[in-house]
Amino acid sequence: MKPLRTALPTLLLANLSLAAPHMRRQTPSAVIFTVTNFAAFFADTTLEDAQSNLTFHVADTRPGLEAEADCVIPNTYFNLYAISALFDYCGARALDVSYRFTETGLTVRRGWSVNGTTYMTGSGTQDTYWTEEGPGANVTVHPNGKLYARKEEWLFPVTRLQPGTPP
Ligand SMILES: *[C@@H]1O[C@H](CO)[C@@H](O)[C@H](O)[C@H]1NC(C)=O
Ligand SMILES: *[C@@H]1O[C@H](CO)[C@@H](O)[C@H](O)[C@H]1NC(C)=O
Ligand SMILES: *[C@@H]1O[C@H](CO)[C@@H](O)[C@H](O)[C@H]1NC(C)=O
Repeated sequence: MKPLRTALPTLLLANLSLAAPHMRRQTPSAVIFTVTNFAAFFADTTLEDAQSNLTFHVADTRPGLEAEADCVIPNTYFNLYAISALFDYCGARALDVSYRFTETGLTVRRGWSVNGTTYMTGSGTQDTYWTEEGPGANVTVHPNGKLYARKEEWLFPVTRLQPGTPP
């Protein structure tokens, strides 16, 4: 059994690198979006009058391409994930800032003009890893629902860049 035991970690590593080839090839991103004051309130669905909402701020600070927008879902009886499953726009449509919020992560996307003829769309995703327990908890339980929050700066390096169309 000895040879098998020593071969096991190598096999596991080989599997891991096969499963995530994009991670190995990743280069530092030149474009980074910044999210601040993220708060998503999920209403307790067993309560008739409880409503959910979501707010956060996005900034793109590249010189000449600066943009800032608030992403907002005002109080609603609908599920937040259902509302933001497809990209939802933030702020003025011309800024072309949008996001997608799922059970596991947040994606921030923006389109911008490279020069007179080319328009690019870039997006970055961060996993949320929400935790209710322990000292680093970021989910708080309220009588009418749960608050998922992150006040500190949250960086979204662009990992997907493709040609796009202006709004
Ligand atoms: C979201 O809902 C919570 C709970 O009802 C409320 O305290 C908060 O002010 C709401 N936020 C916004 C931006 O509407
Ligand atoms: C615009 O930028 C794209 C991508 O960098 C480049 O291929 C194209 O030649 C540029 N066009 C002009 C007119 O500078
Ligand atoms: C929530 O808290 C956990 C544990 O502290 C942390 O790993 C995770 O990154 C946090 N999520 C966000 C969106 O800040």
